[in-house]
Amino acid sequence: MRILLMTSSARGHAIADALKHSPQHPDIVSIATTANPGIKELAEEQFIERSLTNLDRLLLIAKRTKPNLAIIGPEDPIAAGIADLLEENGIPTVAPKKMLARLESSKGFARDLLQKYDIDCSPKFKVFTKENSKILNNFIEQELWGEYVVKYDALKGGKGVKVSGEHLATTREGITYALRCIEECGQVVVEEKLTGCEFSLMSFVDGSHVIHCPLVQDHKRAYDKDTGPNTGGMGTYSDANHSLPFLKIADVERAKEIQRLTVEALQHEFNPHPNPLPLKGEGICYKGILYGGYMATRDGIKLIEFNCRFGDPEALNILSILDSDFVAICQGILSGELTEEMVRFAKKATVCKYIVPESYPDKKEQLGKEVRFPNIKRESRMYYGDISQDPDGTLRLGTSRTVGIVGIGKTISEAESIAQKLCEQVQGPVRFRSDIGTHALIQKRIDLMRRLRSAL
Ligand SMILES: Nc1ncnc2c1ncn2[C@@H]1O[C@H](COP(=O)(O)OP(=O)(O)O)[C@@H](O)[C@H]1O
Ligand SMILES: [Mg+2]
Repeated sequence: MRILLMTSSARGHAIADALKHSPQHPDIVSIATTANPGIKELAEEQFIERSLTNLDRLLLIAKRTKPNLAIIGPEDPIAAGIADLLEENGIPTVAPKKMLARLESSKGFARDLLQKYDIDCSPKFKVFTKENSKILNNFIEQELWGEYVVKYDALKGGKGVKVSGEHLATTREGITYALRCIEECGQVVVEEKLTGCEFSLMSFVDGSHVIHCPLVQDHKRAYDKDTGPNTGGMGTYSDANHSLPFLKIADVERAKEIQRLTVEALQHEFNPHPNPLPLKGEGICYKGILYGGYMATRDGIKLIEFNCRFGDPEALNILSILDSDFVAICQGILSGELTEEMVRFAKKATVCKYIVPESYPDKKEQLGKEVRFPNIKRESRMYYGDISQDPDGTLRLGTSRTVGIVGIGKTISEAESIAQKLCEQVQGPVRFRSDIGTHALIQKRIDLMRRLRSAL
């Protein structure tokens, strides 16, 4: 069994680690943009490519190495159509085809799909083009009361969304940004600004079956107490009961239902003969990982966005406690025969904290500086991100997130203390968020949800 893994990053290291824990002992062929030392240790072959969107070069490597299947980590190659290309060339690929990946690459497509199929989880929204841009002001002022979010309608590396009161001070600024988005990608989504607690739900999808992972909460802000600029994610936690402390059972069930209904909607949308629907992942259907970013609000669960791949760091939490064979899960996704029994997670809590260079995300001042790590024991994991290794083994910082350290415990508090102690032992010009997974921060979320719900 040979698996082609296209991804760098700690998410890639976590996927490689999960593959290597499979009883099927696959060989891994890695294509990545950096020489991730963690993936290097686990892979039989490692190819470094400047970009993962040069599909012809990726295909060349795939044809030469002849994998049994491919797994794609990041969104750019998926949106560019890597799954279409590999499958045309006989390589089954764990990622949706380009057309279906629009769920992530076009926020307008995702909102329109939810609306068309009556999946009621969107905030008030409107898609604007040049034609209707004259009513932007009216929509923002009269319908959203000046509380709005402007969303770039194409992939933008997490930098396309601007929120009123945070990035946009006035309606005028919002309109200017919206018009720029229309200029650059033809349309823009403007939607109501929601208040509540965000969380992520990732599901394995084989076309028709949707099997869920434990829920995770991410922390995007650079510094403690959710302050500072947004980052790729500074850390995450998950709970032993696979829910989150600020959610009710009905919230979790609703998020799961939204993922199921969305997969069904995609099947209807892309298969012209709706009766009967293609079974067992046949026809044009969504295969891969479906990631829903949600917000629990006073009016229930709302969808913020879909991603067509694992989140980073969310993947680190869930893959650390995956108890079943990840290779078999990938095979199930591809064959359309994925079952609940194939996907088992330990009833453990996890806390992931990212170690980052001191000046991340604003500057790149620590590039090339040495960093040293403590020994990792059974109840923890460490996944390498943007880090390089000298021939003598010395590890050096890149400019982005360095390593994700995951503590695993019976409770969030136990997992937090394991992750925190390990982070404190890292030596080098780095920092991390001490508050992620702590009682104080989680209580804040519980209190916020209680306030929102009691204000009804
Ligand atoms: N309707 C909304 N109301 C409030 N905040 C939002 C809304 N949509 C997005 N956000 C905020 O902006 C962040 C980024 O938006 P998202 O749609 O996830 O785009 P991306 O991850 O591609 O940047 C979200 O994590 C959330 O904090
Ligand atoms: Mg997001």
